[in-house]
Parts: sequence; C-alpha cells; structure tokens
Amino acid sequence: MDSRETLCENPVIITDRDAWKEINLKDAGTIEVEIGFGSGEYLLRRASEYPERLFIGIEKKPGMITEVSKRVASHNLNNIRLLESCAKDAFADLFPANSISRVYSLFPDPWPKRKHLHYRLFSSEYLRLLNNRLIFGSEALIVTDSEDYCNWMLKQLPDTGFEVENSIIPPQFDTRFERKWLEQNFNTFFRILLKKARHIET
Ligand SMILES: C[S@@+](CC[C@H](N)C(=O)[O-])C[C@H]1O[C@@H](n2cnc3c(N)ncnc32)[C@H](O)[C@@H]1O
Repeated sequence: MDSRETLCENPVIITDRDAWKEINLKDAGTIEVEIGFGSGEYLLRRASEYPERLFIGIEKKPGMITEVSKRVASHNLNNIRLLESCAKDAFADLFPANSISRVYSLFPDPWPKRKHLHYRLFSSEYLRLLNNRLIFGSEALIVTDSEDYCNWMLKQLPDTGFEVENSIIPPQFDTRFERKWLEQNFNTFFRILLKKARHIET
C-alpha cells in the first residue's frame, strides 16, 4: 500500500475536499488551528487539555502528518484533524470568515536569506487573511527563534486589524524545534501575540 492510500484511509487526516466537508465547522464549537505543527507535541497537549474544542493542525509535510496521526490514535484523541496543505491555501480556501478561535505557529520557517523572503508565511497579506478568519477578539500566537523574522513580522502588522503584544520568553513549549534550539544554547525566543481588534475584509 502506498503512503497516499494510508493517508486517505485515516479519518484523522484530511487530504481532500470531500473529507474536509465532513467537518461541520458551524457546529464544531471552539476551533483552534496550529500552523506547521511538526511533531505535534503542542497540538496534542492542547487537544488533551481542551477535549471539548476542535483542533485542526495544518502541515505541508505528509511524513509529519503520518507520524502525528499515529500519536493522535495512541492518545485516543478524537478532537484533532490533520490537514495536509500549505497554510496559505488552507486559510484562503477552507475556512470561512470569523470561524477560528485561536491560531498558533511555533518556530515557523524563518527563511533568513533575502532571496527567500517571499516564502515567509506571516506577510501583511497573510495576516489580513488570518484576521478575516479569526473571530473578533481572538488571538494568534507566533513564537520564533529568529529576531530578524520577528522584526520583519512586526513591520507587516499595520492595517492587518491586530493589536500586538511582543515579548522575549523562555522555553516553554517542548516542541522538537524548541528542544533543538535549547541544545544549541538558545534560551530565549520571540513571542508575538496578535489580538483581533478590527475585522478586515479580504
Ligand atoms: C521549523 S518547523 C517547526 C515545527 C514545530 N512547530 C516545532 O516547534 O517543532 C516548521 C514547520 O512548519 C511547516 N511549514 C512550513 N511552511 C508551511 C506552510 N506554508 N504550511 C504548512 N506548514 C508549513 C514545516 O513543514 C515544518 O514542519
């Protein structure tokens, strides 16, 4: 059996629009979304902590999706769905306006080279889309190891409808990338907390 078949047979994993339609977002209650969940540690912890909420993890690497789906099964969690997609496409195509209660992204790829800046996820355009999909007053949390990426994101914020609170924080998420940085003696990270203060039409 090839890996695509395995993915499609797993009800936790969403690989196509038919499977997506089976999630009734309107009746799902509180929805939290993690962008680029990697090994899924934070997603699984949040889902265990809040069993009444629906957690949607978006990840572009199929290998991570398969790995995390096994953990979802072994923890008997029925409130997680894993979406194999680029987060830009998922927000643009799958979520309606005002549908998400919380978004988080831990250690998003920083794309440090100038010629790769256009790959960075949290551009002004994407932040406006994120704003549109979030419920009024709800929050998006972004944590990065890169001061340069943090400063770049802060510059993207005007006209995105968010109030921002940024701070330097100690390690606290225990994800694969946080552990990786700790091993290299990085002990502080950059936290950007965005609160939707005004609705943006997209
Ligand atoms: C640096 S890793 C961090 C993983 C995890 N959050 C952690 O803290 O260990 C970034 C993750 O984001 C995923 N990713 C990068 N760009 C993405 C995109 N546009 N849409 C969805 N996932 C993305 C990557 O595949 C990778 O798993």
